[in-house]
Amino acid sequence: MRSGNRDSRDLKRLFVDPVVNMCPVWFVFLLLAALKPESIAAVHENNTGLNFIAVFPENIAYYHPSHPQNQVQITALYDNTQVIIKQSSYDTSYLTLTAAEKRDIILGKKLEMRKQDISDRTLQITSTKIITVHAISLKDNSVQTALVIPTDKLGTEYFIPPIPTIQGTTDSDMVTTSVTEKGPFRIIVVNADQDNKITVEGAMPSEVLLQPYQNTQILLNADAALRTVKTDQPAAVLFGHTCAMRHNCSCGMLYTLLPPAEKKKLNYFIPPVLAKDAEAETFVLLSEGKSTKVEAFNPKSPLVRTSGTAVLYRPGLLLTLIPETDFGSCYAVNFISNMINRAVIIVHKDFIYGIHVQHLPLESPEWETLKGTEFVSTHITLLSGKTIIWHSHSKMAVYFLGQKDSTLFGNPAAMISKTPDFRGCAVIPEVVQIGEEAASWQESLKYCKDNNMELVSISEAKLQEQIKEKIMQANNDNLREVWIGMRRSSLNGEWYWLNKDTVESTNWDEGEPGTVQDGQCVSMSLETGKNFVWSDKDCCHAARPVCYSSPVLLPMYWS
Ligand SMILES: *[C@@H]1O[C@H](CO)[C@@H](O)[C@H](O)[C@H]1NC(C)=O
Ligand SMILES: *[C@@H]1O[C@H](CO)[C@@H](O)[C@H](O)[C@H]1NC(C)=O
Repeated sequence: MRSGNRDSRDLKRLFVDPVVNMCPVWFVFLLLAALKPESIAAVHENNTGLNFIAVFPENIAYYHPSHPQNQVQITALYDNTQVIIKQSSYDTSYLTLTAAEKRDIILGKKLEMRKQDISDRTLQITSTKIITVHAISLKDNSVQTALVIPTDKLGTEYFIPPIPTIQGTTDSDMVTTSVTEKGPFRIIVVNADQDNKITVEGAMPSEVLLQPYQNTQILLNADAALRTVKTDQPAAVLFGHTCAMRHNCSCGMLYTLLPPAEKKKLNYFIPPVLAKDAEAETFVLLSEGKSTKVEAFNPKSPLVRTSGTAVLYRPGLLLTLIPETDFGSCYAVNFISNMINRAVIIVHKDFIYGIHVQHLPLESPEWETLKGTEFVSTHITLLSGKTIIWHSHSKMAVYFLGQKDSTLFGNPAAMISKTPDFRGCAVIPEVVQIGEEAASWQESLKYCKDNNMELVSISEAKLQEQIKEKIMQANNDNLREVWIGMRRSSLNGEWYWLNKDTVESTNWDEGEPGTVQDGQCVSMSLETGKNFVWSDKDCCHAARPVCYSSPVLLPMYWS
């Protein structure tokens, strides 16, 4: 136990400090330069945010007596998260959530969109601390779900996918705007908080002006050949149909939230389970803006490469695919009671170990190979309250896949973090930085503290393993050694960590540590081939420090 020895260790520190203070005074005058700024964050770094907008398209399948149940599912990442949900100027609700709490909010009927060019029926969610949001539209078997993207991560350009061929829905002689469920596919543009001009480009381009929080539906008539949406200010774009035919003459709502246009060639992996039982009816809708393509899904080539948007279609399901560059290490998956809820996971074949659901490692799942790739996929059934999926040392893709009777629906799960941590789901990743100035161990300790960090304590072999790469990345100056937060007690000569962790697993270089005379403080070697081994050094020796701040982990509510 860690706490047992605390008193004696505090005592040791009292005895040790004078030793270090005997360093020559000129080290005190070293300037404490600011630490290097973190590398600039990518655009779609994660799916968490403080502001969200969502719409609920008209769900017209199954008339009387079924009522639509539109809802949002909010997952908080911190305690005391205050959320405001505004359905209209007169309907606002307030909630307070605790860390890892997931809450369903059933929305009023009036929020559902109507056949209107421009509407104010938009849901606004704001929060005092970051959250993730999923939207769920539910009416009997007509169920659709979406990951809601925070407004600060919305784009200003979107590629419109090609329209899949759906018998009874897209046959040219049947499409008519006079009967709602026989209308064409459409996009819904949802405006954030500024005045916005929406331009839809194609054979028959059009323009719409939207005020804050308004939305508009734009019909994708075949002859208009609309390909791209461009907006002056960030906006969200949905693509789908109010009532697309499935099987046996029943129709259901079909929508997906489009990702902002990507113009880099990216890899998209399609797990075989998404096409199971419907291989012949599964298509990939590809759009690179001006050019579009509908590809029949071929399980022998589950890797799709495009510099554009990739959406999977099968009856009932439009699924925006996750590019490899957006793989993450921790996800919050949505969950709907009274249905089958699954998570589909794609990971590199060398990293199938390390996946956890809540606090437990994933028990021997069956992996399917994605032919011709290094990746494998699996799907697991989710249980209520067990919907945080994280990897201890790699990245992966996670989708939610729901099922009602024989119909599937789904969405990319909400990515919380891209930085794996062996201890759990990192809401704030650990920070590893090398200080700017070479100084004594004591000065180094102060330097890290002055920068709101600690001289790193590496009491676990797993931590040493995890931070190796980050130290290498921070080592722009090819340093050969750095200070770490371990030193010897002058009372009894024993080694101890600054953070008071017990010294169990060590990484001493051959022949190290030496005698008490050789050194009282510990440096780590960054020389290639040395595997980050440690040596004892005179504490007055000048080296640069490894400063560290611990991650903030999502609590897992053991059960
Ligand atoms: C369509 O109807 C037939 C006969 O009622 C039934 O066996 C089949 O499962 C249905 N298909 C779907 C996809 O619901
Ligand atoms: C998520 O993204 C935001 C920027 O949008 C960033 O500040 C935050 O650190 C990211 N969280 C994690 C866990 O990477």
